[in-house]
Amino acid sequence: MTTGKIAPSILSADFAELAEEVERVTPQADLLHVDVMDGHFVPNLTIGAPVVKSLRKRTDLYLDCHLMVDNPGELIEDFAEAGADGCTIHIELGDPRPTFARMRDLGLRVGLTLNPETPVESVLPYLEEVDTLLVMSVHPGFGGQAFIPSVLDKLAVVRGAVDEGGLSAELEIDGGINHDTAPRAAAAGVDILVAGSAIFHADDPVAAARRIRDAAWPPTS
Ligand code: DX5
Ligand code: ZN
Repeated sequence: MTTGKIAPSILSADFAELAEEVERVTPQADLLHVDVMDGHFVPNLTIGAPVVKSLRKRTDLYLDCHLMVDNPGELIEDFAEAGADGCTIHIELGDPRPTFARMRDLGLRVGLTLNPETPVESVLPYLEEVDTLLVMSVHPGFGGQAFIPSVLDKLAVVRGAVDEGGLSAELEIDGGINHDTAPRAAAAGVDILVAGSAIFHADDPVAAARRIRDAAWPPTS
């Protein structure tokens, strides 16, 4: 099994200590997952491009911005200017292609995501066009929720389609990931594990991230 990536989600970090929290987890972070919520698409409100701009000055990590907003097309320019590396938008909003095109123009990597209740068929037509396909394993809006195991079937379907088509999309899973659920996602073919509370609420966030990584992709020697 090839090894994958860990993306700590700063939603569960202490926002008043954000730079320190990020620095602390960096030895075990391959990307940094940034949850952007607008209080409309999801019933919670978080952060936006200004925080990405501040983070950009303090970290070289890939900033993976998960846009849980009604109007991603109106925000992506701000995120690109702020220094985001990639933005992920939700298929539940409808045809993502116009926003994908603008993201490419802005130099952003392109991500598409689907909620737990959304059929996997909805994202398959876009697999060739995305850099990242994010499978939500909780209902988006909050950290600390329980993993929904039925989404593993969707992950496996997407894995099969990507491999069969020789596509380059990386598969990411988000929600309820810890050292117990991570191996199940790895077995279904995930490339990137997002974890918020399991990392930032741990006494030792680096050790927690390491434990998730090793559970998913056991070291060979
Ligand atoms: C939920 C967010 C997740 C969240 C995951 O809407 O998209 O990224 O931070 O948190 P945990 O890992 O605690 O489930
Ligand atoms: Zn997220």
